[in-house]
Amino acid sequence: MKTKLDFAKKKKSGDKITMLTCYDYTFAKILNATSIDSLLVGDSLAQVIYGHPNTLAATADMIAQHTEAVVRGAPDKFVVADMPFLSVRKGLRAAMDAVHVLMKSGAHAIKIECLQGQEKIIHHIVESGVPVMGHLGLTPQSIHQLGGPKIQGRDQRVAEQMLTDSLKLQELGCFSLVLECVPAILAGEITGKLEIPTIGIGAGNKTSGQILVKQDMLGMNSQFSPKFLKKFADLEGETKSAVEKYIRDTLAETFPTKEHSYE
Ligand code: KIV
Repeated sequence: MKTKLDFAKKKKSGDKITMLTCYDYTFAKILNATSIDSLLVGDSLAQVIYGHPNTLAATADMIAQHTEAVVRGAPDKFVVADMPFLSVRKGLRAAMDAVHVLMKSGAHAIKIECLQGQEKIIHHIVESGVPVMGHLGLTPQSIHQLGGPKIQGRDQRVAEQMLTDSLKLQELGCFSLVLECVPAILAGEITGKLEIPTIGIGAGNKTSGQILVKQDMLGMNSQFSPKFLKKFADLEGETKSAVEKYIRDTLAETFPTKEHSYE
C-alpha cells in the first residue's frame, strides 16, 4: 500500500489490512520485502527500543529519527508515525510543530490517540493536508488515567462513547482508526458503522485489519504475553541459542575456520 486511499480500497473490497510496528532500518528492509501493507513507528518505541516502562517518554524528535530510518529501509511501504504524549494538548502551534517534524522525517501519515478536547486540532491537521489515523480504546498515553492496561468498552457507557468518538473522528477526516484492547463484538460493531477502516490490536477479527508490535509477535520478549498476542516466532530463544553457539565455537576455536579467514 502506498497511499491512504489504499486503506479505503481495502475496506471497500473487504480485504484485511496488515500493519506492524517498525522502528529501525534493518527490520524495515526485511519488512519492505514482505507483503505487509503498512508500518507504524509507534511511540511504543519508548518501551521496545529504549526500555521505558510506558510510552510517555517518547518525543517527536525521537519518533522522527526512527521514522527516517524506517522510511529509508522500507521505501515501498506506507509509514505512519505516532504523535507523542501531550503533543496535541499544548495548543495548535505545538501540535503543528510536532506534525511538521514527523512529516519532514518521511512519514506518510500520523496517528493521534483519543479525541475529546482535540477535535479542532485534528481537524486543522487534516485540513493542512496530513492524513490522520485515530486511536481509541486502550490509549497507552492515558495509562495512568485508565488505571493500567485494561480492556476498554466492556461498560455500556464507555462503549457508547467509543462509538460516538469513532464517528466523530471519521467526520473530522481521519482515514482509519486503531482500536486497541476492545471487546471483539464492540470492535465489530464500530467497524460496521464506519466507512473508514479500523485496525485492531486486541480487538478480535472483525476489524478491517490488524496491527501488532513487531518485537512482540516475533517472540522477542518472553515476559510479555497478553491474551491478545500471538507469537509467530521465538526470536528470543533463537537469538539466545545462536549467541551461545557463537560463544561455544569461539571457545573451541571452531570459529573462525579457514572459510571465514583471509589468506
Ligand atoms: O505505539 C504503538 O505501538 C501503537 C500500536 C500498539 C497501535 O500505538
